[in-house]
Amino acid sequence: MVKILEHIFEELNTVPNFPDTALRALKMLEDENINFEDLAKVIRYDATITANFLKLVNSAYIGLRRKVESLTQAFALLGINQIRFFLVAACAGQYLKRTLHGYNLSPYEVWLHSLGSGVFAELIAEKVKAKHPDYIFTAALLHDIGKLVLDLFVGGELEVIKDLVKDEGLTFMEAEIMVLGTDHAVVGAELLRRWGFPKETIFAVRAHHDEDWMVQNQTAAIVALSNMLTNLLGIGMGSDGLSYRVPPKLLKVAGIKDRELFSLIAEGYQRFQNLKNNLLANSAR
Ligand SMILES: [Fe+2]
Ligand SMILES: [Fe+2]
Repeated sequence: MVKILEHIFEELNTVPNFPDTALRALKMLEDENINFEDLAKVIRYDATITANFLKLVNSAYIGLRRKVESLTQAFALLGINQIRFFLVAACAGQYLKRTLHGYNLSPYEVWLHSLGSGVFAELIAEKVKAKHPDYIFTAALLHDIGKLVLDLFVGGELEVIKDLVKDEGLTFMEAEIMVLGTDHAVVGAELLRRWGFPKETIFAVRAHHDEDWMVQNQTAAIVALSNMLTNLLGIGMGSDGLSYRVPPKLLKVAGIKDRELFSLIAEGYQRFQNLKNNLLANSAR
């Protein structure tokens, strides 16, 4: 197992850095008096991020009356939180749109799962007026990024992991730890640390399957809940499926009342479907 673990951490070195452009832009967005002209100048440098950003904005559920053609136009219509959300989503695609063989997931499913969690996180953050929406979006969109690295190792061991889940009643992640010596939350958090993300974002990724840690703060709780709801709706689950447990305190720490949950699921699902359908339509055009 030690050998596998060594390989896993070596493999982390081969994952390309999170785009500098996006990190710089996120830093600028910490300032409430940000100058959007300056922000556009930074993001424009990266043609892929700019194109993805505009595609996402034009696909979203924010009721735009006409097509947005430029960053400056987009910034004039969006709030700071929406800019953050679309910016991280625009970058996440390049990491997540690949097949995860070990987890039985197609690139499209991985991307949808990430977007679905992001959409739920955005909705919940809005509803509960979360203190740190910026940390929440990044963590929700990238929460399973560790699967990207672990996937290389899960493949051969998938049957063993699945048997442990089925026969021993372990969660998928407990089985990951038994077989690989680590899990996708730990590896994902380490990637985010290397990329220079804030501690609270890293913690939320680390905690998204840990029943004790996910209720330590609101950011972690919202990220974990968003992931669960996305799984519950069957959005890009793959082989780890529903083998997770929900701690009773989770809703409370996230700031959601029991009776609000159904309408939250319905609204999140609607938002997600709109975004997905529009993205598909925009890609086909
Ligand atoms: Fe996960
Ligand atoms: Fe997930």
